[in-house]
Amino acid sequence: MQDLIFPPSFQWGVATSSYQIEGAVSEDGRAPSIWDTFSHQPGKVDNDDTGDVACDHYHRWQSDLDMIKGLGVDAYRFSIAWPRVQPLGSGAWNPLGLGFYDRLVDGLLERGIAPHVTLYHWDLPQALQDKGGWAARDTVQRFVDYALAMAERLGDRAASFATHNEPWVTSVLGNQTGLFAPGLKDPVIARRVAHHLLLSHGMALQAIRAAGVKTPLGIVLNQSPATPATSSAEDIALAAREYALFVRWFAEPLLLGRYPEAPDLPICEALQPGDLETIAQPLDFLGINYYTRIWSSTSNPPVPAPHACGTSDMGWENYPEGLTELLCGLKRDYPLPPIFITENGMANRDVVIDGKVDDQPRIEYMRTHLQAVKAAMNAGVDVRGFFYWSLMDNFEWSSGYAKRFGLFHVDYKTQVRTPKESAHWYRRLIEQQPSA
Ligand code: FCB
Repeated sequence: MQDLIFPPSFQWGVATSSYQIEGAVSEDGRAPSIWDTFSHQPGKVDNDDTGDVACDHYHRWQSDLDMIKGLGVDAYRFSIAWPRVQPLGSGAWNPLGLGFYDRLVDGLLERGIAPHVTLYHWDLPQALQDKGGWAARDTVQRFVDYALAMAERLGDRAASFATHNEPWVTSVLGNQTGLFAPGLKDPVIARRVAHHLLLSHGMALQAIRAAGVKTPLGIVLNQSPATPATSSAEDIALAAREYALFVRWFAEPLLLGRYPEAPDLPICEALQPGDLETIAQPLDFLGINYYTRIWSSTSNPPVPAPHACGTSDMGWENYPEGLTELLCGLKRDYPLPPIFITENGMANRDVVIDGKVDDQPRIEYMRTHLQAVKAAMNAGVDVRGFFYWSLMDNFEWSSGYAKRFGLFHVDYKTQVRTPKESAHWYRRLIEQQPSA
């Protein structure tokens, strides 16, 4: 593990999100989110799984926090379920929901773990979707009110606030391909949604700072480099376009205050004067979620990616070098704030045998991706921390419970959590780091 020694101040963490782990969807005043509605529609999620119970974290949070502490991590990234704290997305606050996150944050601090809060990890209150969701400009103000209230409530204790998790996913998978909630298939709506997400991020940062909250503020983007499958002009052009839509469409307004322009890129008709200045608020950090690269092939059938390091159970190519490539490319193209790898991990077909889960492919994935992070740091990229996705197996959106990303295996019948070999490996790796 000698090649995996990081600076003493480097933050080691694990990540989860509310709808994927909490369950208790109709308890203590929580109202439905778009994911409750979506997952209950037959055929939308593999096996028709829903987040109704998930990992039952809402009831088991104390032992889950003990489990996190046992890993020896410095930091935990989780999200707040908006419909738990403000059930209708506007108006009344729910004291029971607010109390849950108060206790969670305090419980983390008692255990010496820094709470990194994501405000929006996809569980929009259904009541707001009924009024147009993120396609409606009014939802921007609703989010700003919610974000400000959370920042004022938890800002004295949280280590950071990220406004959005992966706006590309909300926009494209939620509103263009319809694979995720709310399940719309309209590219024009998807562009509006993307713009409103970014605008709500910028306005939330302005409001939180104006209120005097000093907690570091940022956003989390899912990003990948795009590799042309061949050296043909067509494949090169496709890779450039895919990179523009996946990475530049979000990075550029945030970091340069403009949308990428090219004749074949869509225009954003929701853009109003002043929006870009609002979006481009200074970031205290940028979160990057990285899983795989984009492989751009115009051939029919497509030229297959090489898959030299294997694939995950999601079918995604393991491509650690892509993380170095991505981070160095971002540093080349943009003025960057400090970076956190807010998600990285792999789904594996894990089974418990004699109380053990021998997930060597995951250990290999983590090892090679951490090496890739180090390579980027050696090249001058300012990476401050790494959060493994995920703490435990959970509701993997439209893949349901079949895909397991956790360091802890979850038996959904008994809710028993079993540390996988990768959990032991991660704990040993963290133990070996120089102390701060
Ligand atoms: C990311 C999501 C996260 C998880 C991983 C596998 O896109 O942010 O919730 O599902 O993928």
